[in-house]
Order: sequence, then structure tokens, then C-alpha cells
Amino acid sequence: MVLVVETTQNLIEIRQNEKASIAFVPTMGNLHQGHLSLLREALTKFEVVYFSIFVNPKQFGPKEDFNRYPRTLVDDLNLIKSLDAEFTTKKIIVFAPKNPEEIYPPGFNHSISVLGDVSNILEGSIRHGHFDGVATVVHRLFELIKPQEAYFGLKDYQQFLVIKHMVKDLALPIIITGMPIIREDSGLALSSRNQYLSSEERTEALTLSKTIWRIEKIINRKKENLPKAQEEIINILKDEKWNYLEIRDADTLNQDLSQSKRVTLLAVYQLRSTRLLDNLQVTIS
Ligand code: PAF
Repeated sequence: MVLVVETTQNLIEIRQNEKASIAFVPTMGNLHQGHLSLLREALTKFEVVYFSIFVNPKQFGPKEDFNRYPRTLVDDLNLIKSLDAEFTTKKIIVFAPKNPEEIYPPGFNHSISVLGDVSNILEGSIRHGHFDGVATVVHRLFELIKPQEAYFGLKDYQQFLVIKHMVKDLALPIIITGMPIIREDSGLALSSRNQYLSSEERTEALTLSKTIWRIEKIINRKKENLPKAQEEIINILKDEKWNYLEIRDADTLNQDLSQSKRVTLLAVYQLRSTRLLDNLQVTIS
């Protein structure tokens, strides 16, 4: 069963009457198979799944794509219903606020500030305030929905770590689960922003996944190969389309990898104004 809820008041009432333990999948809509993989996993484990669709203004900078971000609620609901047909005994509550005031009522005057390195590097250093916006909306949704477990895509790897840190620091009783990136057959990671690309750019975008797989091969799971991989990265970064391509510790995002058992390759490749993110984790010894 799918129930669509448009107001916070309605959401609170429904949640208050919920006896079962629940899972939560937060999204900004324009759903693709990546989002559906989160919903599928949640439905496999829980009887009731809350699923939010909200393009959060607080996580977009003034020059970013908030206004043109694709809003496709009718198609999104059809995709959710197609999954509902697979999980006939389960309940999906879709929270799709009809306007931003449902999340941020007039006078709403609070924000979660994400302090420390995880928020100031990589995406955080390019998109100032972005992670504060993400943490603020996710915290607000967590407070309204009070899930036992919440699912995030690992494509936004740094976001996933920011949320994990927030839950730990604020002692929120919620399990945060990251789900693997879903890719097209070509290797391109699924993203709502892929639709900004022309067909030539789509081909060029494959540079991103191909490059991180090449670096993964160079590392070949061995710490001793990291310097060779770093050298290769210096060469690759001569192409200015790369916003960054870095190897960092997979848990802390530290650059010092001397104690690391798992590293992450994090990259952003920019085609015109579209920034394409990708990443990959490698266990090393
Ligand atoms: O990953 C996203 O779609 C968004 O950043 C999230 C987590 C739904 C918060 O707006």
C-alpha cells in the first residue's frame, strides 16, 4: 500500500499511530534505480517504510541548480507503486511536502552546523554550507519520522559520512545504512543530474568511472602501490575538468593513509555546469 502525505501535520498524526518499527529513505525525487534500490532494501527488512521527496533549498548555493532541479512527482509515484506491487503486504508512506514551509515553517530559525574536516574538504570546500543544509533537513526529517534505520546511496559518499557522524555525535538512535552505487551498463553512476548532459557529454562522462577503475587497478589492494596511484592522479588532474580526484581514508577522509585499511577514491568531473560525482572503496593491506 502506498500512502502519499503532503503536510507535516498529517505526517505527525500518521507516525504517532504507527506501532511497527520503521525504515526511512530520504530523497529529492526524480527517482531512478539507485533510489529504488534503497527502497527495495528497506522493504525487504521492514513492514513500514517512510520515503521522502523534497528538494531541499538549504543545501543549494545561490548559483546552484535549485530552480532547475528536476521535479517529477507523478513519475516518481509511479515508480514507487511499481515496487509496491512486488511487496504487497508492506506499507510505503511517501512524504512529499507540498511546499518548503512544511519543512521550514515561517520563523524556522535553526540549523545543524557540521564542524570539522569531513564537512570542509572536497564537496564542502567547493559547496560552502552544503552539508549544513543536508544535515539540517535530514535531522528535521529524522525528528518527524523517528525511523529505526535510514538508507542513503553511497554515490554521495561524503554525505553518507556526514550523516553517520551527525547520528553518532547527537546520539540519535538510528542505524545509517549505505547502499552501493547503481551504474548504467556503460559504467556511468546513476544520478538525477545526468539528464543535464548532451549525448556527447554522456560519452565524455565515462572518463570518470573509467579513471577511478584505472586507479583502483594501480592500487591493486596494496598499500605499497599508493604512491604510484598518487603519481598517476597528478597527471590526470592536468585536465581542468576534474574538480578533484583524491585518495582518502574511507572512514575518516584523512589524507594520511599510513594506518588505513580501507581507502576511498573520490572524484568530481565537470562538464559545463554539471558536476558528476563518483567514488570507489578499496580494501588495502
Ligand atoms: O542525497 C539526497 O538526495 C539529499 O542530499 C538528501 C539526503 C535527501 C537530503 O536532502
